[in-house]
Amino acid sequence: MQSVAATVSTMVLKAVPLFSGCQDEQLRVLAAMVTRRSVPRGTLVLNAGDQTDSLYIVLSGRLKVLMSDSDGKEVILSILGPGEFFGEMGLIDDSPRSASVLAIEPCELLSISKRDFKSCLAQNFEMAMAVMKGLVRRLREADRKIGSLALLDVYGRVARLLLDMSESVDGQKVVTKRLPKQDIAKMIGASREMVSRVMKDLQMGGYIEMRGSNILLKDTILLAGE
Ligand code: CMP
Repeated sequence: MQSVAATVSTMVLKAVPLFSGCQDEQLRVLAAMVTRRSVPRGTLVLNAGDQTDSLYIVLSGRLKVLMSDSDGKEVILSILGPGEFFGEMGLIDDSPRSASVLAIEPCELLSISKRDFKSCLAQNFEMAMAVMKGLVRRLREADRKIGSLALLDVYGRVARLLLDMSESVDGQKVVTKRLPKQDIAKMIGASREMVSRVMKDLQMGGYIEMRGSNILLKDTILLAGE
């Protein structure tokens, strides 16, 4: 991985949700274990099938979690952002990496070695709970995705994805992060052409409105995403 490493202050660690239950003394111990890295856009931070060595925490930037086959066909499992962590699965069960993780923006990451992570977990119940909560959240998201693949048509899947990716801006739901149609297609198991057609129809039907690079979601889209 192409990256620039640096040391980390306890102030930075305090702002990380995974470490929010740690006492000051624990944060000082952690600061000596954790490395900060800047990685450029396009960096493959983890490669599916590789042996596991570290856990990563996102301080800034976004990364795609993806799986691909030998023909280069991809499915995007998730897009991770600040405060989230990845690489915990292989650390917990000692299996190879379950997916690849690619930086889609320049990222600031923290990494902690497998040995140090395991010794922190053994000593810190709050941190173990934070990891478990993260795993449960992922399982809920995966269940939702399985449900939408089995139960919704492509309109419903696009609508639900847009709702999941949206944030509240002045009381309105808006997708502010760049979300190429190709990536939407890889997240919902449809072709790019189909996603383009559905987005156009949602626009024509008044369910969504394009505002520059933002997508404004109208209340009626809730009906399409149910
Ligand atoms: P690991 O298997 O060690 O390496 C790949 C990582 O991708 C994995 O740990 C998780 O941190 C992350 N990951 C795998 N599946 C998902 C998912 N469905 N949603 C979010 N992150 C995931």
